Amino acid sequence: MFDRIYRAGVLGVAGRKPVENLVRSRAWSVAKRFVAGEEMDTAIAAVKELAADGVLGNLDLLGEFVNSPETANVFAGQVLALQARAAEAGVKPYVSVKLSSVGQGMTVDGTDGTAGTDLGLSNARRIVGRARELGGYVCLDMEDHSRVDVTLQQFRTLLGEFGAEHVGTVLQSYLYRSEADRSALDDLHPSLRIVKGAYLEPESVAMPAKADVDAAYRRLVYSHLKAGNYTNIATHDESIIDDVKMFVLSHNIPKTQFEFQMLYGIRRDLQKKLAAEGFTVRAYIPYGRDWYAYFSRRIAERPANVMFVLRGMLKG
Ligand code: FDA
Repeated sequence: MFDRIYRAGVLGVAGRKPVENLVRSRAWSVAKRFVAGEEMDTAIAAVKELAADGVLGNLDLLGEFVNSPETANVFAGQVLALQARAAEAGVKPYVSVKLSSVGQGMTVDGTDGTAGTDLGLSNARRIVGRARELGGYVCLDMEDHSRVDVTLQQFRTLLGEFGAEHVGTVLQSYLYRSEADRSALDDLHPSLRIVKGAYLEPESVAMPAKADVDAAYRRLVYSHLKAGNYTNIATHDESIIDDVKMFVLSHNIPKTQFEFQMLYGIRRDLQKKLAAEGFTVRAYIPYGRDWYAYFSRRIAERPANVMFVLRGMLKG
């Protein structure tokens, strides 16, 4: 319960324009702990730096909830450019995309005269298509609960067109619906990233108690692994990670069927340790000028982070 109140408080304050302006102008020195930089090349350099510790990268151009088809298309163009630049630099073009940032929910007429195509889906098609050409992968991030149905539907379409080795998506354990969503996808053998969930959601759709979210997290991971599917275990929760290690050992699940994923700047020690133990580990590396919403969610996850921000801002 405290977690929810804390999250609501931080996200409520962070959503006010004067607070955003203040944090944007004073807190970059703090934000850069969580964000690799504002430019593409700094993010690619971060992937190379992590590679020295045996950790792989997942590049994420920050941006969400764009409000015009033009901005959505520009954003999609920047993701395509990122994929190309990563491949040129010898880095696997493994990217994450929020469908809202490429126009999900905006309808456009197709070039072949068909009416009413979702712009998010058509832009995602270009991005996943490029991933297939370059030997890359695209994870469709999961946003707030109002987008889950459409994201899963578009994921099914893209998976059918490009295959599970080039596109995956995310399920959030805090949503009551996620276990049913996972089973409903089983026939497609999808690669899924399992997370706890980072948005402020009403109690009618999301579990308010952290213990329930953690228990649901374990259930989701175990059932996806048991079904023989590739599982991206995206958490910094060391007790869950330890339990998963025991689970895979006792169920003879090979290390090639899952990976651990964590966020840039969080528990780098653990990322390095797991990689040294022979597990596949991937860090989610966000970059770009639109870092504020992502940064606010990271602060809302942990009370100690508020002090970290305030101290950083006072230092200038
Ligand atoms: P939990 O919150 O219980 O934290 C466990 C421990 O991790 C803490 O005790 C602390 O040590 C450390 N920790 C966690 N968050 C921290 C922070 N912000 N700062 C410092 N330490 C921290 N969500 C979503 O809704 N949609 C998505 O698509 C994604 N995608 C995604 C990708 C990847 C690779 C990761 C790791 C996470 C996401 N998330 C996400 C975010 C996710 O939903 C969740 O909010 C965070 O991972 C925090 O939850 P934990 O599982 O780490 O556990």
